[in-house]
Amino acid sequence: MDQWRYFEVTHARHGIMNPISAARLFEVGDVIGLDPTTRVLDIACGHAEMLMLWHERFGCTGVGIDASPYHIGRAWERKAARLPDADLDLLHADGQEFATNERFDVVACLGATWIWDGFAGTLSALAAFAKPGGIVLCGEPYWIAEPTADYLRHEDVTRATFHELDGCRKIGVEDGRELIWMAGSTTEEWDRYELLQAAGLDDLARTRPDDPDLPALRERRRAADAAYLSCGRRCLGFAVWAFRLPR
Ligand SMILES: C[S@@+](CC[C@H](N)C(=O)[O-])C[C@H]1O[C@@H](n2cnc3c(N)ncnc32)[C@H](O)[C@@H]1O
Repeated sequence: MDQWRYFEVTHARHGIMNPISAARLFEVGDVIGLDPTTRVLDIACGHAEMLMLWHERFGCTGVGIDASPYHIGRAWERKAARLPDADLDLLHADGQEFATNERFDVVACLGATWIWDGFAGTLSALAAFAKPGGIVLCGEPYWIAEPTADYLRHEDVTRATFHELDGCRKIGVEDGRELIWMAGSTTEEWDRYELLQAAGLDDLARTRPDDPDLPALRERRRAADAAYLSCGRRCLGFAVWAFRLPR
């Protein structure tokens, strides 16, 4: 199966593809002072929902990039239908290889820190695209309780892949960065994010029951549901962090 297909199917119903609601992202945007002069770069933008929500509410403009041909394709369709004239450039690109001469006021990556091997590497990578004194915004899981060995195996992570909440804060304030805001997801937000994936798969099963990928997709989703409900829901949180860079 194409490596991006599972995520296409399981995230087909998502606008925002992480466990933070639109209301919380508006709050983040308010706190970091987005306005029509703000330029935002969103790496791993998914369906570009955050950029579009922020453009609609605050008038900010910017660039979104995503490596999945499915997600960026949906982002193009959604933008064409909703905000055809908005100054939002959505590019099909890999975050690791992306280069630009522009320096942004806000540089974000929500839910894809594996691109730079975790939270610390991501904050440094994002900072390289930002203006001095700009903002880096990062969405990252954190441990609430000890995970089981089965859970670590299923997620293909170690205990050291993620940190506890204050561990994230400590990494965040390295290199002269200052903490501005943290929005931690609620259990309801996690449930919605996870279970919308099961619903997305059910949509495919109903509309295209002969899809050749369906058995493999189902097996993978069943394992993911079991991992989430047996451990992930109680041991892992997700938070969006905003840090101000030094001038
Ligand atoms: C959990 S989703 C988050 C999407 C978006 N940030 C959001 O919160 O709505 C992770 C995204 O990372 C993208 N992605 C994965 N690896 C990537 C890479 N190397 N470069 C750019 N995007 C990548 C996936 O296609 C997916 O859209």
